[in-house]
Amino acid sequence: MRVLVVGSGGREHALAWACARHPSAPEILCAPGNAGTAGIATNVPISVTDGASIARLARESGADLVVIGPDAALAAGVADACRAAGVAVFGPSAAAARIEWSKTHAKQLMDRAGVPTARWRSGDRETRSRLFDFVLELDGRCVVKADGLAAGKGVVVCDSRDEALSALAACFTERRFGDAGDVVVVEERLRGPEMSAFAICDGGRFQLLAPARDYKRAHDFDHGPNTGGMGAYAPAAADPPLMDGIAERVIRPTLAALADAGTPFVGCLYAGLMLTAGGPRVLEFNARFGDPETQAVVPLAGDGLLDLLLAAARGDLPAAPGGPAAPPARAAVVVVTAAHGYPLEPRTGDHISGLDGLDAGTLCFHAGTARDERGRLVTAGGRVLGITGLGPDLASARRRAYENVQRIHFSGGWFRSDIAMSPVEVRW
Ligand code: AMP
Ligand code: GLY
Repeated sequence: MRVLVVGSGGREHALAWACARHPSAPEILCAPGNAGTAGIATNVPISVTDGASIARLARESGADLVVIGPDAALAAGVADACRAAGVAVFGPSAAAARIEWSKTHAKQLMDRAGVPTARWRSGDRETRSRLFDFVLELDGRCVVKADGLAAGKGVVVCDSRDEALSALAACFTERRFGDAGDVVVVEERLRGPEMSAFAICDGGRFQLLAPARDYKRAHDFDHGPNTGGMGAYAPAAADPPLMDGIAERVIRPTLAALADAGTPFVGCLYAGLMLTAGGPRVLEFNARFGDPETQAVVPLAGDGLLDLLLAAARGDLPAAPGGPAAPPARAAVVVVTAAHGYPLEPRTGDHISGLDGLDAGTLCFHAGTARDERGRLVTAGGRVLGITGLGPDLASARRRAYENVQRIHFSGGWFRSDIAMSPVEVRW
């Protein structure tokens, strides 16, 4: 068996690692991969958005499955290009992935499907007065979201009318988010802990993986700028009624609405949820695995992850209830080490040491790493490594992650200290 993983982050290293553990010992290719994937796979230097080259590589190498990591690849139609070349792909078409890159589209779909989400309105420069009216109706307690992809920065959570109106002005007048802010969604501000659910989907059926929580802000206790994510833990909740509710009220109707619209979803549907007093509400959908969440979720999924991805890609998931899988017997915590200057101006080229001192059983997923001309491991991006500790419960997984992350050294390297410190307590 041969698997091609598209992407170069910690998420893709974790996916390649999980696929490689399959009992059939498959050969793994990564496009383009990183210094970590080079240890378990053959890296091929192709851009993640170059669908034609990725499809050619998949066909010529005889890949049985292409697994696509980044949203940029999905939006560029890489899954479509591979499918057109007759290769099995885990990753949605560009049309189905639109659920991630247009918030208005996602909201319309949720309303059609009856999926619980915050009340909302959408508008552009011409129709902005209806957004102002909605801000007043909510008395400023709202969230202003650029419709398009804005590198995680296009969401402003507001407490007052003034804050909300200046967030609207930032989109329409200052054009702070460029074209991504030409259309804006204003929604009701919800309260509650957040959690992310991951459904492996075959176009109609699905299987939930362990839910996770990630930490998007740079510094402890949610201070500092937004990042791609500085750590995560899983399971974030193992409460069967909660997971049943997410499966039946969120994932199943969303997949049905996507199929009805002629854009069946094959891949990982990621629901960002808020657990409000009135039950779970969807904040956003992503059309891919989360990063770094995947580095905690995938190690809990066992050696059968590749079978699940293959079945999804072939439209062949078991017809049995879509989810949830049994709660995992273990817990996982990933702590991300970041480069000096991340997220604003990450420095590259710092020599990394300490990887050989990690405990057996603790996982180290590479993200922004490379080899320099002398073959030494150096930093090559903002998020450098993810260290995943595993244990029978979250506390021990957390302890292992932190004991090990402290053995890694590179100049200016840093990490958050509070990952999984106060896990979501869910009681229904
Ligand atoms: P999004 O990109 O839509 O997931 O939003 C980014 C972050 O903004 C979320 O992780 C939440 O912390 C916050 N957020 C988004 N929508 C809402 C909402 N309706 N109410 C409260 N917070 C929200
Ligand atoms: N960690 C957040 C994301 O992958 O979107």
